[in-house]
Amino acid sequence: MRAITIAEPGGPEQLVWTEVPDPVVAAGEVLIQVAATAVNRADILQRRGFYTPPPGASSYPGLECSGRVVEVGAGVSGFVPGDEVVALLTGGGYAELVAVPAGQVAPLPKGLSALAAGGLMETVCTVWSNVFMLAGLQAGQTLLVHGGSSGIGTTAIQLAHQLGARVIVTAGTAAKLRACRDLGADVGVNYRDEDFVERVAEVTDGQGVDVILDNMGAVYLDRNVQALAVDGRLVIIGLQGGVTGEVNLNTLLRKRAGISATTLRARPSEEKARIVAAARDAVWPLIEQGRFRVVVDRVLPVDRAAEAHRVVEDSGHVGKVVLDVATVRGSSS
Ligand SMILES: NC(=O)c1ccc[n+]([C@@H]2O[C@H](COP(=O)([O-])OP(=O)(O)OC[C@H]3O[C@@H](n4cnc5c(N)ncnc54)[C@H](OP(=O)(O)O)[C@@H]3O)[C@@H](O)[C@H]2O)c1
Repeated sequence: MRAITIAEPGGPEQLVWTEVPDPVVAAGEVLIQVAATAVNRADILQRRGFYTPPPGASSYPGLECSGRVVEVGAGVSGFVPGDEVVALLTGGGYAELVAVPAGQVAPLPKGLSALAAGGLMETVCTVWSNVFMLAGLQAGQTLLVHGGSSGIGTTAIQLAHQLGARVIVTAGTAAKLRACRDLGADVGVNYRDEDFVERVAEVTDGQGVDVILDNMGAVYLDRNVQALAVDGRLVIIGLQGGVTGEVNLNTLLRKRAGISATTLRARPSEEKARIVAAARDAVWPLIEQGRFRVVVDRVLPVDRAAEAHRVVEDSGHVGKVVLDVATVRGSSS
């Protein structure tokens, strides 16, 4: 098969579409012929050499895909060759074939194209596991999403809005804030010229927000705690603003608030399977009812992954940059 390999740690030009050995399907795994995958910020860190794949994971980038089952390993039930599926991967999505534990695979939701579905699983599973399973966001509560126009942000806005929560977002341009509002955000804060703590206080009558989904880490740590309501929960999933921060523990204590930090990729497959099952139960009906979609910024052929990485690194996108694998495979056969 062919896959995007990382020639050596560095810039987008290090992404090379080339012949590699086919993956071997182990017991409990499903082999998928990939239709589409998508760029996640983690892929960029991996390309630069700052994110080593967990032990046993493929060395090719790609944390999600859509496609068709071509083979099932021993002991797999529930999937047969020919099934159209989506999968949460630990790596290897920028490829023609990928092997993945069956628990991380789900049927392609009705109403979603295989191309758009290439950008579904990493964001939906991250948002569902953090905002709903861990932080327990409820209808009637308020969620603050930093980076509202990101792949993660566009997913969090729609899910929280559809499930009855109020949503506040931060983003860096007026156009991105408009896109967030179109998806259901109630309040937009331009992080370049507004203080989100002040805006949160203003729009919540000084109460603060119940849950924060944070991509910034250290630089927002203390301000995030200030923005939390009593019993609020801060969930950190990204460290774009650094790894070491200070927080006023007195504020945390008075609010009886909680801080968690999680990563999806390194979790054991059994945990990922539980998250995939929960996300499927909650989100597939919303997709089928037309209440949730993958926000696709653009689609590029997988052999132009370097260009796709440049777009995401320059934050030139809203939602997901999808990589089309099916067309590239078709055009060479
Ligand atoms: N822990 C996990 O399991 C997990 C899983 C998936 C993703 N993540 C993390 O989630 C984040 C989003 O991932 P993605 O792939 O969706 O990334 P993405 O589309 O590249 O988005 C990055 C976002 O960061 C925003 N941003 C930059 N500076 C900001 C600031 N000062 N304040 C608020 N937002 C700011 C950008 O907003 P503008 O474009 O408006 O500047 C952009 O929306 C990343 O940090 C990623 O590492 C974590």
